[in-house]
Amino acid sequence: MTHISARHFNQRGHGRGVRTTRTRQIVRSLALMASFSLLFSGCKPTVATPITPAASSTATEPDTRVEVKSIAKEPYLEGWEKPAIALLLTGEQHGYLEPCGCSETQSGGMARRADLVRILTKEKGWDVVGLDVGGTVKRSRRQDQIKFEKLFEAFQQLNYAAVGVGVEELRLGADFIGTKAISDPDELAKAAALVSANIVLFDTPDFGWPLPYRLIEKSGIKIGVTSVFGPSLREKVAPAGVNTNITIREPDEVLPGVIKTLENLKPDLMVLLCHGNDAEAMKLAKTYPQFQIILAAGGYDEPDGKPIPVGKTWVLNVGHKGKRVGVLGFYPKNKAQPFRFELIQLDKDRFKNHPAMRELMKQYQQQLEDEGIAASDELLINKHPSGQTFVGAEKCGSCHSKAFTQWKDTGHAVAFTTLKEGPWHANRAEEKIDWIPRQFDPECLSCHVTGWHPQEMLRYGSGYVKESESAHLLGQQCENCHGPGSLHVAREEGNAGMDELLEGRRMVRRTVEEAKKSMCVECHDPDNSPKFTPERFNEFWEQVKHPGKD
Ligand code: HEC
Ligand code: HEC
Ligand code: HEC
Ligand code: HEC
Repeated sequence: MTHISARHFNQRGHGRGVRTTRTRQIVRSLALMASFSLLFSGCKPTVATPITPAASSTATEPDTRVEVKSIAKEPYLEGWEKPAIALLLTGEQHGYLEPCGCSETQSGGMARRADLVRILTKEKGWDVVGLDVGGTVKRSRRQDQIKFEKLFEAFQQLNYAAVGVGVEELRLGADFIGTKAISDPDELAKAAALVSANIVLFDTPDFGWPLPYRLIEKSGIKIGVTSVFGPSLREKVAPAGVNTNITIREPDEVLPGVIKTLENLKPDLMVLLCHGNDAEAMKLAKTYPQFQIILAAGGYDEPDGKPIPVGKTWVLNVGHKGKRVGVLGFYPKNKAQPFRFELIQLDKDRFKNHPAMRELMKQYQQQLEDEGIAASDELLINKHPSGQTFVGAEKCGSCHSKAFTQWKDTGHAVAFTTLKEGPWHANRAEEKIDWIPRQFDPECLSCHVTGWHPQEMLRYGSGYVKESESAHLLGQQCENCHGPGSLHVAREEGNAGMDELLEGRRMVRRTVEEAKKSMCVECHDPDNSPKFTPERFNEFWEQVKHPGKD
């Protein structure tokens, strides 16, 4: 037996008692209610803070010397003096409010990002402004709307000023993002605002949301920010000709005007958030050298942290899923080298989970429960492609006692309890303390219960709905691998002829080859099970195999 499986078997027996006896108090927060008020549409473009006549803008000259900083688990921002302002640069979070949680080694999450902000502001005493290039969520379901709202609450707490508009924001729909418009100037001054120079909602150029640009003033520094949606992504929002109430204008039509307006406000620094492809970012960098910094989407998942110099402009990538955060220090007095940039990996060794964000995550889970998201019609796929329905492992076990006993002793059998109570592996015991229950979250349920499409995160008609209704489908059961078994069971229990019996058995027959090729990786994907590689398949299979038909 391998090392992993030894640990697996030792700890399981121990954990199970804890699992079944523990009840959990769920924190219900009224603060949720607050997040839904304030917002209505119809406002005019605004700037973050009142404009004061300024000293002439600093002639910033970014040095093209590239600073390559390590992104491994070692000291970060080493040797940095306090900058006039530090920009926290993020984007393309694609819905990952937290690292996916299945593997303890995953980086990212708003709670660690908040810890970095705490370190920068409280420990180092820096002034920090956050800018995000957009791509906040992944899909356009109700859950993504809730996420979007929670994320903007988080952004506000973390001093973000502007969030660019990407494909994902636009897919939430003009109506939805329109209702997020903030017209009250005091509210807006505190908020993270959606910004885009070339997106027009409802064919109404003076609708005013997203803001076409923003001027941010902090600790005597003025930063002009705007954002562009790359026309190359137009088709990803909606196929041509579909009326979405969203107009994507050519950047070249709008940027010169926005740049002029911003320059009249005498910023010390101009930043462009570019939500397009690489080529678009490069072209914008060449055409509009007024921007010293371009934060670009569309790069690699895990970029190397090197600024790409284009003339005097730095084009920066920060990667996807919120695993890494870019920190840009601005040193206007240093004419030769006004910027430093480092991409910081939010790993668990250097960053703790900030309690304020954990509270927000609890509220988020609470809202998923309150709205009954997992049981909603939006997530229903009526029929499994096989046409069969799910009957539950107990039923299979009534004939296949060997397989059932084997299965009962695997992580698969307790996968639902894990969502309620946290990991059962002893080496992750500390995560069970103050664990945020996730059993109402479709994005966790899809692999931890039976009868869902793991990757689409949708529920089959006879799949798990909620604990009270679906007690027979808790955990990762037989039928997630074998397919729903209603026909096979009916035939075995009835008085079917041999051909019918064989047909039923064929429908649930699986092979190790299939398992290796496609079955397991539906759930054991690189995010949720990074150790599950083709080379290590046997190691995993050994732990869940269950020979014997009786
Ligand atoms: C009423 C009894 C009964 C129930 C309930 C039952 N099976 Fe079976 N199953 C059988 C019998 C009998 C066979 C044939 C055994 C043999 O060939 O020796 C079989 C065969 C199988 C096979 C092997 C198919 C093959 O030919 O390679 C699989 C896999 C299987 N069942 C899975 C399941 C699953 C999954 C469930 C629950 C959804 C289930 N069974 C429920 C009786 C049952
Ligand atoms: C429907 C989703 C799904 C499928 C399909 C699936 N698994 Fe899993 N697997 C899980 C989940 C979820 C867990 C974690 C359960 C827990 O601990 O809460 C898990 C855990 C495991 C574990 C335990 C790991 C440990 O560290 O203890 C092994 C081993 C495993 N799976 C092997 C497999 C193999 C082999 C296959 C394919 C034959 C497979 N799984 C198919 C969802 C799935
Ligand atoms: C796409 C499938 C999938 C989704 C979605 C998923 N998980 Fe998992 N989860 C797994 C697999 C597979 C494992 C086993 C990983 C391994 O051991 O390699 C696992 C393991 C875990 C474990 C570790 C249990 C232990 O003791 O080791 C925890 C905790 C967990 N998941 C929580 C969650 C939470 C919380 C969510 C939602 C935010 C979630 N999972 C969503 C597939 C998934
Ligand atoms: C993680 C995926 C997975 C789960 C969960 C799972 N099985 Fe299987 N099962 C397989 C695969 C793959 C095979 C084929 C194994 C082989 O050919 O050696 C198999 C084989 C079988 C067989 C045939 C065994 C034999 O000796 O020919 C039966 C019966 C069976 N499973 C029943 C069940 C029952 C009952 C459950 C739930 C209690 C279950 N399985 C859970 C993947 C799974």
